[in-house]
Parts: sequence; C-alpha cells; structure tokens
Amino acid sequence: MERIEEKRQSASNSSAATMMINIADYEAKARSKMLPAAYDYFAGGALDERTIANNQAAFGDIHLVPRVLRGASTPKISTRLAGHSLAAPIIISPTAFHGLAHPDGEVATATAANALGTIMTVSTTASSAIADVTSATSYPVWFQLYMLKDRAITRDLVREAEVAGCKAIVLTVDVPAWGRRERDMRNEFALPKGAVIKSLLLKGREDFYDGTMNVPLSQFISERFKFDLTWEDVVWLRGVTKLPVFVKGVVHPLDAVEAVKSGAAGVIISNHGGRQLDTCIPTLFALPSIVQAIGDRVPIVLDGGIRRGVDVLKAIALGATAVAVGRPVIWGIAADGARGATRVLEIIRDEFRNAMSLCGCNSITEITSDLLRWNTTKRVLLPRA
Ligand SMILES: Cc1cc2nc3c(=O)[nH]c(=O)nc-3n(C[C@H](O)[C@H](O)[C@H](O)COP(=O)(O)O)c2cc1C
Repeated sequence: MERIEEKRQSASNSSAATMMINIADYEAKARSKMLPAAYDYFAGGALDERTIANNQAAFGDIHLVPRVLRGASTPKISTRLAGHSLAAPIIISPTAFHGLAHPDGEVATATAANALGTIMTVSTTASSAIADVTSATSYPVWFQLYMLKDRAITRDLVREAEVAGCKAIVLTVDVPAWGRRERDMRNEFALPKGAVIKSLLLKGREDFYDGTMNVPLSQFISERFKFDLTWEDVVWLRGVTKLPVFVKGVVHPLDAVEAVKSGAAGVIISNHGGRQLDTCIPTLFALPSIVQAIGDRVPIVLDGGIRRGVDVLKAIALGATAVAVGRPVIWGIAADGARGATRVLEIIRDEFRNAMSLCGCNSITEITSDLLRWNTTKRVLLPRA
C-alpha cells in the first residue's frame, strides 16, 4: 500500500506531471509567469464571460461520426486560403500587446507563424513595429485595422502596413463600443509605465502618438479610434488600398452578405473571443447560416474557442475555409517565447491531423458535414454536405 503511494507521489513529482502536452498546460504555465492583471487582460471577456465559455462549449455540442477503412493514416493537411499556401488551415488572430506576455512581443508570434507555415494577423495595437513582424516570417502577415477618426492618419497606417509587406487588411467591425470587461475594471488595467504601442508610431504623425501615453489607455483609444463605422467605411477602405480587405467580427448571415456586397475578400466570423457582447452566439453556431448565406463566394475564417484539433475539424466540416486562434498563442509566448507559441500551434496542428485520420479523411476536402451529429436536442441549421 505504502509502495503504491510512494509511486504515485514520485509520478506526480516527475517531469510527466509538468509535461506540456495541450493548450490548457500552456495556459497554466503562462498564468504562473504573468502578473495577475496581465493574465486577466488576456483571459478575460465581457460581463459574465458566458460567450468565452460558450465558444468553447459549442464544439462539445457536436459529435463526430467517423468513417472507417479509408486508408487515412497520413492525411494531407495543407491548404490554400485567399491565394496563400498554408501548412494547415490554422491561422493566427490579431491580439493586442504581445509585449505584455513576452519581451519579444509580436516578433515571437511571427517567428512561430513562420515555423508552422501559416498566416499571422498583427493587431493595430501591437507592441512590435509592423516591419519587425513582417521581417520575422516568410509567410504572409495580415494587418488588423481599427479605423481611426482621422482618415489621413488611417491611410498612413494602412500605407505603413503595405510598405512593411502585409498581404491583407483585416478590418475589425465588432467594436462600436468597447465591451465591459469587469476583470479589467476591477484591476484598473493599464499598460506598464514606458510600454510603447510601436505599431502606432507613424513618421511625421508624432502629434497623433509619440510613444508616450499620459492618459488612461481607454481614453487614449477613445480619442483616436473611430467607433461609428458603417459599410461605407469598408468601401472607403477598399478605395485607399490595393490589398484585399477582410471583414472581422461578423456573426449575422445578413452582415456576411453585406460584407460580400461591399467587396470584402473574406469574412472572419468572430465575437472577439467573448470580449464584446456577452451571450453573443458562439461562433461555431453562427457558421452554418453564414455558409448558407454566402456559400463559397469568399473564404470564411472562424475564430473563438479553438483549443483542440477536433475543433478545427468541426469548423471545417461546417464550411469554414480555415480557423484562427487568439489566446492560445499568447499562452505560448508567455510560457516560452517563440518556442512556446510554435509548440502551441504544432499541438493544435498535430491533433487536427490525428482527428482527420480517425475520421477517415485523407484531405481537407473530405472533411464534410456528414461526419457530424448535433448533441441532444440542440439543433442548428446545417448546410448540405
Ligand atoms: C487579449 C486579446 C486582445 C485582442 N485584441 C484584438 C485586437 O487588437 N484586434 C482584434 O480585431 N481582435 C482582438 N482580439 C480578438 C481576437 O482577434 C480573436 O477574435 C479572439 O481572441 C478569438 O478567440 P480565442 O481567444 O478564443 O481564440 C483580442 C483578443 C484577446 C483575447
């Protein structure tokens, strides 16, 4: 009896107990290394954070019905998205201030994107300069744009992204107001003294931002960012750049239709990772009706709650061209810089490949909705296989 207890004890002290084998392990590690307020900033969301939980839970509401005897032991997971070849249908969502997670900031994230062979989207509010991010990867970098109040400065910012070599602009449209993030309110979250939003340092625009911030972050942003966007802003943006414009933050099928009408090169189904409207529909549940509404007219990317390779498979089976991950890469860089983010992406990729094999899929095109059944009585309109 004692021997068994001894064995148990030594197993829990061994490296096996601290092995980093899934995204939750990386989140735990990241949390242990971060200041509590920084962890809350990254992990948290709006109000009761139901949407954060529901984004993830939605994947559990769909069961897989695998096919057998299809010889699918080595599936081909590479794919194409908007003209780019990717090692896997998994790209990186824009998230702000990677410098809070690791001193290498977004450069670490771009290094990981390069190692996996995928697209990174860099935020308007990045700790690293856009050109440093594009220099760190030979794969495409997309620039996420928060439209600014001043059109001329917005144009300069887009130009900065173009000159740095970004391959698309991702216009975020789900922020007509900031979500009420109660963790940040309680923590009175602020950037550390001296932190610089390098992505917003524009030559000759020091009056807009010179690297110092003498007011609270929320005030800084509300003075500069344009919140009252309409579809005309999408048309305006298309007029000032030759880059394809993706619209990010759509969950309603009529908005997806509007995005296509406005000339968007693609739609990113997103609820901002549960940071905006709490109890917003989980993105996975928004997907089928958007696929029904716009078909394959433009690529559809889904983000929100992707933590496992099976999640990727389910989103693709429901019609997504690719998925994007937000928090997992932050946990990766916080835990171990570029190496940590690379591992995080590799884990999701390897789980995805494994899920394809186990579902009998030899290639991405074989991932179809006949592999899915909705759990219990929860029913969402499914597109035809
Ligand atoms: C800490 C944090 C910062 C974010 N910053 C931005 C941003 O600057 N621009 C943007 O369009 N979305 C931003 N998002 C939303 C993400 O792009 C994405 O929609 C979300 O993280 C996906 O959910 P997931 O974290 O569950 O993968 C942010 C999300 C988080 C968690």
